[in-house]
Amino acid sequence: MNILVTGGCGFIGSNFIKYILKKYSSYKIVNLDKLTYAGNLDNLKDVEKNKNYKFIKGDICNKRIVEKIAKHVDCIINFAAETHVDRSILEAGSFIKTDVYGTYILLEAAKKYRHKKYIQISTDEVYGSIDKGSFNEESRLKPNSPYSASKTSADLLCRSYFVTYGVPVVITRSSNNYGPYQYPEKVIPLFITNAIEDKPLPLYGDGKNVRDWLYVMDNCSGIDTVLCKGTAGEVYNIGGDNEITNIELTKSILKILNKPFSLIKPVADRLGHDRRYSLDCSKLMKLGWKPKRKFNETLKETIEWYIVNKKWWKKLKDNKFNQYYKRQYKISG
Ligand code: NAD
Ligand code: TYD
Repeated sequence: MNILVTGGCGFIGSNFIKYILKKYSSYKIVNLDKLTYAGNLDNLKDVEKNKNYKFIKGDICNKRIVEKIAKHVDCIINFAAETHVDRSILEAGSFIKTDVYGTYILLEAAKKYRHKKYIQISTDEVYGSIDKGSFNEESRLKPNSPYSASKTSADLLCRSYFVTYGVPVVITRSSNNYGPYQYPEKVIPLFITNAIEDKPLPLYGDGKNVRDWLYVMDNCSGIDTVLCKGTAGEVYNIGGDNEITNIELTKSILKILNKPFSLIKPVADRLGHDRRYSLDCSKLMKLGWKPKRKFNETLKETIEWYIVNKKWWKKLKDNKFNQYYKRQYKISG
């Protein structure tokens, strides 16, 4: 199988590429990535010489580049996106451009070259917040941030390309991922790296918001299951079955690192902050998938990875663009 992976230099995409190259010796992957602040070639150093892997720097909004690659592949898996909720609250334009218009360009290519499958990597955030119970794939879409609204718009475009043109689109909606190579602006790597450096951990609001944490490799195996067995036109939730409040998560990180709780710094709440995400994943489980790894075990492994790979994240945290962003918006980290 020849696959176009977009956004493969980011957190989940890079883990997915390594997962696929290791598991299938006959699969070939072309990775198209614009290398925004979140895209990092260091994430793929282990495979850059693999004969089944090729990197092309480019934008998914660029029809010419997309078509040139799409002509030679059997399917597209779209990870490329602007992904950080806080940034979307400050500036939504790039989210609408990449997450919505970029998806349209990819869908057009899948239509033109009659691909076998198009997988849209989406998020549980499209359902909005839920106080009790869990969302299934039929739940209404009610996004609350510019990020989740742009991802929802992309999901709806995907649906329309299936219904109108028969493009074999499958959507995955996963919960919050964690693991190695996650950009240190998302809460787990931000808090781990701040704690390592004895810097404050800025906890939003009352710290009681709940997220369902999914180990990135369990998401990769879920996407692989959908690639092999998913039905065109369907949506599959991928969750970790690990719901905890942010304050519990923060304390677990500090305990593992043997750092004092006094590093926790309550700060103003995020605008429109979703209270709780929760997914019913029985549909994907019927295809034989389940999350394999335990949260406590993988959180420890993840923390160890950030301790060992300080060089990797130090470079990102010291990066001029990141510094500018933090100064501009008075963000600590
Ligand atoms: P990330 O921010 O780490 O990486 C995004 C990648 O996309 C980067 O390599 C970036 O350079 C690339 N990119 C951005 N704009 C591009 C463009 N116009 N053209 C080509 N490449 C572009 O993101 P991630 O956390 O790996 O998330 C990957 C996907 O999974 C996203 O679609 C996101 O919405 C979805 N998702 C993420 C999570 C999570 O917890 N991280 C949860 C659910 C869904
Ligand atoms: P984040 O990692 O940004 O993922 P998402 O918003 O997509 O769920 O945030 C996870 C949770 O952590 C969310 O409830 C917001 C909270 N949070 C903080 O309390 N402080 C922070 O500095 C960040 C980045 C997030």
